[in-house]
Amino acid sequence: MKFNLSNEKIENIKGELEIVIVINRDFSHRFIKDKKVLKRAGFRGEQGETFLLVESNRLYVGSESIKSRDIRPAIAMAMRAIKGSSYKSAKIHTYMSDPKSTDTLRGMVEGIMLGAYSFEAYKSKKSEQKLKEITISIEEYHSFELLITSCQKAVDDAIIVAESTNFTRDIVNTPPDDVYPKVMASIAKKVAKEGNLQCKIVKPEELKEENMHALLAVARASRHTPRVIHLAHKPKNPQAVVTLAGKGLTYDSGGLSLKPADYMVTMKSDKSGGSAVLGIMQAVAKMNLPIEVHGFVGAVENMIGGDAYKPDDVLVAKNGKTIEVRNTDAEGRLVLADLLCYAQQEVKADYIFDMATLTGACVVGVGHYTSGVMGNHTIPTEMVLNAANDKSGEMATKLDFNRYLGKSLKSEIADIANISNTRYGGAITAGMFLSEFIDEHHKDRWAHIDIAGPAFVEAAWGENPHGASGAGVRTMLRLIEKLAQGEAD
Ligand code: BES
Ligand code: ZN
Ligand code: ZN
Repeated sequence: MKFNLSNEKIENIKGELEIVIVINRDFSHRFIKDKKVLKRAGFRGEQGETFLLVESNRLYVGSESIKSRDIRPAIAMAMRAIKGSSYKSAKIHTYMSDPKSTDTLRGMVEGIMLGAYSFEAYKSKKSEQKLKEITISIEEYHSFELLITSCQKAVDDAIIVAESTNFTRDIVNTPPDDVYPKVMASIAKKVAKEGNLQCKIVKPEELKEENMHALLAVARASRHTPRVIHLAHKPKNPQAVVTLAGKGLTYDSGGLSLKPADYMVTMKSDKSGGSAVLGIMQAVAKMNLPIEVHGFVGAVENMIGGDAYKPDDVLVAKNGKTIEVRNTDAEGRLVLADLLCYAQQEVKADYIFDMATLTGACVVGVGHYTSGVMGNHTIPTEMVLNAANDKSGEMATKLDFNRYLGKSLKSEIADIANISNTRYGGAITAGMFLSEFIDEHHKDRWAHIDIAGPAFVEAAWGENPHGASGAGVRTMLRLIEKLAQGEAD
């Protein structure tokens, strides 16, 4: 999709289709030229409601407000509504909630690209994307005078963010026998090459030398050997150093504690955290942000077989802590334990964030739409919450640690067990397990984001079609951008 910005009034812009956003059911606005027809047809302008007037080539869509959080999903619905149509070009006005902030414009462009996404790599007949070009008139809803340069920056940033989110979606949506650890590593190398990033791939031999025995145990029964990926964006005089770590389970069968058939389907999405890291690194390189960003991915497949690790095994993690395995389906925390230790050994960071589809309990607790954010200190957790809920278009909520739940991870024979002895609070106990692998320097600089809910979409919502959502990409990019602008939290 190509985006143009124009000083021209919408009437003078070429475009087969005009898209009009009806804000807060206000049909009296000058942008709405078919008020009577819309009323007669029963179009009420509810959030995400669309109406295509074929005679006048106008597509109307309702948005509850002019904030990006409403405009983004609204315009995504508009994209879905014209999916089968043959319009090749479209035009649209600019909408802003505030003359100084281009956030709504950015949200609009993100919504267009995220809403138009579909994963068709495995379809024999692909539904061609006909709409190729969208021209945005900088004539604004409130008649704000806009600077074309700042609008252009908002559009450019939106394109980078949405492309990286869709890139992450593609990786996650690809079946597990086409994206396995080695393939993730080759994707990382490609991202590095294109974005001028440093890239190191750690292979099994070296993982052994690094004492990453917890990660290796999870990987052992798979014919696909594991990889640890380290990408780095290192600008001169960085304002901060950020480490990202992602769970990259290219498949999670549950291992010997095998998942029931119905729960195993969609477990190709257990690589969502790692795939988000790859997408974020791609965007950070393109935006060339003045923040040093390190992206680590633990790419592993959790399978069964004669060589599989077992419940009752005791594993020694990289930091020397012993872990009693009580359930091989709680594998993400074992992979992340070693990955986090490795990341902290390699980089002393100002902030460290991990993203993982870690627990079903998080989905039960906070729903399908929201990530759970945990940590030992309010600063990094608040940074994530603010970046997510404010403008990114993603939702995140805080889950507090407490010492009583922490005790439920006690093991009789090792330093810690990999599952808790209670059914309750599973997202938090998983987070507390990870905190055991965060060193003194990083203790208060770390936050864990459980993206198990939003990472994979079973029924389309907001700007997310069926399949992978790219959860975490937009939140983390906002966070890094905010750091670059000197807003710590
Ligand atoms: N990958 C799953 C978590 C998950 C569940 C992600 C649903 C996305 C959707 C994770 O490895 C897992 O299996 N966790 C177990 C932990 C349990 C054994 C303590 C779970 O959530 O059931
Ligand atoms: Zn699992
Ligand atoms: Zn898993």
